[in-house]
Amino acid sequence: MIKRKKIFDVLNADDPTNCVLIKGWVRTRRDSKDFSFIELNDGSCLKNIQIIVDNTINNYGEISKLSTGSAVSVKGKVVESQGKGQRWEVRAETMDVISTAPESFPLQKKRHSDEYLRTIAHLRPRTNKYGAVFRIRSEVSYAVHRFFRNRGFSYIHTPVLTGSDCEGAGDLFRVTTLNLEAPPVAKGKIDYTKDFFGKEANLTVSGQLSAEMFALSLGDVYTFGPTFRAENSNTSRHVSEFWMIEPEMAFCDLEENISFAEALLKYMINHVKDNCGDDLNLFANFVDKTLDETLDNILSSDFERLQYIDAIDLLERSGKKFEYAPAFGNDLQTEHERYLTEKYFKKPVVIFNYPKDIKPFYMRLNDDNKTVAAMDVLVPRIGEIIGGSQREERLDMLEKRMDEMGLLKDNYWWYLDSRRFGSVPHSGFGLGFERFMMLVTGVSNIRDVIPFPRTPNNLDF
Ligand code: 4AD
Ligand code: MG
Repeated sequence: MIKRKKIFDVLNADDPTNCVLIKGWVRTRRDSKDFSFIELNDGSCLKNIQIIVDNTINNYGEISKLSTGSAVSVKGKVVESQGKGQRWEVRAETMDVISTAPESFPLQKKRHSDEYLRTIAHLRPRTNKYGAVFRIRSEVSYAVHRFFRNRGFSYIHTPVLTGSDCEGAGDLFRVTTLNLEAPPVAKGKIDYTKDFFGKEANLTVSGQLSAEMFALSLGDVYTFGPTFRAENSNTSRHVSEFWMIEPEMAFCDLEENISFAEALLKYMINHVKDNCGDDLNLFANFVDKTLDETLDNILSSDFERLQYIDAIDLLERSGKKFEYAPAFGNDLQTEHERYLTEKYFKKPVVIFNYPKDIKPFYMRLNDDNKTVAAMDVLVPRIGEIIGGSQREERLDMLEKRMDEMGLLKDNYWWYLDSRRFGSVPHSGFGLGFERFMMLVTGVSNIRDVIPFPRTPNNLDF
């Protein structure tokens, strides 16, 4: 019995074992007088391997009818290929048909639009482009863990079910086991004490608050998991379920935090360039011709650091007509962010010291009493890719801020405890993993870099 080999391993071997067993799906088949040529793909890499089937093979009748999408198992000899663009090909000794795909298989050999492929999200990873997206996604996930591990960070599994709203934006997905047709009522309101957890529960919007508790215990920690936001915004940069990388570092101030964010972003890009060559080239050739340039520019730039107030000033004086006029006290819009990073600085830009009123309760108040030690990293084509801050470590300031914002301190008693017992300056940030995937592939819609996107009115698959 010979062991199955992945096509990636066969194609990349210096001297492949002579006889191999491979299994995969037929991408195309063409016939000549005496042979059938099959391009086979098993998902292990972008490239197909060519299989040559002699018409003397006993089940040639069945093989010569194989259509795109069918699955086969091939035993054969690896030989040097006469054809262009490939080093090895396989001369089939036997080929078993595992299953066939009829002509109705939607991925026949032609270009399909991204919009159409979204309607068959369960099949799109079988295309070159989406196979490449998801191989890169897997490779970067691995790199993220390696980055942190090399720096002595502990990986914390923060809860998905929570009773708090970290960002305070109210974009929460409620979790309940109450009978929604006839919920229990007390004093004219739904009685959540009867709900599963005895209180209101929701899906997490960020693992930060939990991660902070662990940073104040283990020092340097990170989480990397799914987060959920019920923002009703149908943009190409928002999904309702997305993955976030959130480091949290004790004894770390805003400046160090920014430098760390820059290092992580560069590490991730470098990793993709070094390890995903073939897949990355597909995007540089067919999706975004400026991709190489964009990525090299990020890698070779020192990120610009700019205070929010200076960013507003710069935008106001830019003479550019924005849909939303920039004004102190308002959040930056994507159009502003993109102007700064793409047009003005032409490299990543970190905006810091935002007005406290547009930021969550946990950010550290600056001495001006107006701004907080927040930072956002903006990159070309995407705008905000990272949002973070130095955290308010002073109990009295934090409590004052929570009161101002109308937050119930009782709900955060455990969070406040961390400021009562051995509180230290600490900082962290969240890097949106899908935004990174957009950056590194040049894909322009966030729905196309996550396996099964969740957006308003869309929960298929
Ligand atoms: O700026 P945000 O809201 O920051 C936080 O959640 C902090 N608690 C993180 C922290 O300090 N630990 O979100 C962080 C990043 C954004 O910069 C963006 O890249 C991404 O998460 N993001 C989204 N990505 C896709 N779809 C959405 N709806 C997103 N909302 C935020
Ligand atoms: Mg943000």
